[in-house]
Amino acid sequence: TRVEYLNYEVVADHGWEIDDDDLFETASDADLDADDYGMFLAEPGETLLEAAEQRGFAWPFACRGGACANCAVAVVEGELDSTVDNVLTDDLVDRGFRLSCIGRPVSETLRVVYNVKHLPGLEDLRL
Ligand code: FES
Repeated sequence: TRVEYLNYEVVADHGWEIDDDDLFETASDADLDADDYGMFLAEPGETLLEAAEQRGFAWPFACRGGACANCAVAVVEGELDSTVDNVLTDDLVDRGFRLSCIGRPVSETLRVVYNVKHLPGLEDLRL
């Protein structure tokens, strides 16, 4: 899976929104740090968090087992398998939030905003 990622901190700093139509195009034009925006390939079977870590990124996490929301990401495009039991409410899942510590990329391409743990609804679930 080709994963394109963006740090929520950058989104907030620029006054962008997660549901902006051209969020990733705007980000790719913005000359951001590789920590904040870029792409990597995830191998089959890897969770998204493992894949990011394998490639040298330090994304937020705490429990690594679906019990908090520190590792939450917003999926903007593509699919992250989330069949494992976890703390996210149906409403958060409907809005595209997933947990990177248990979510495995299943689509060919994936666009995610990571570091969304401070957003309303996710904050209360953190450890
Ligand atoms: Fe706690 Fe992912 S790190 S749910």
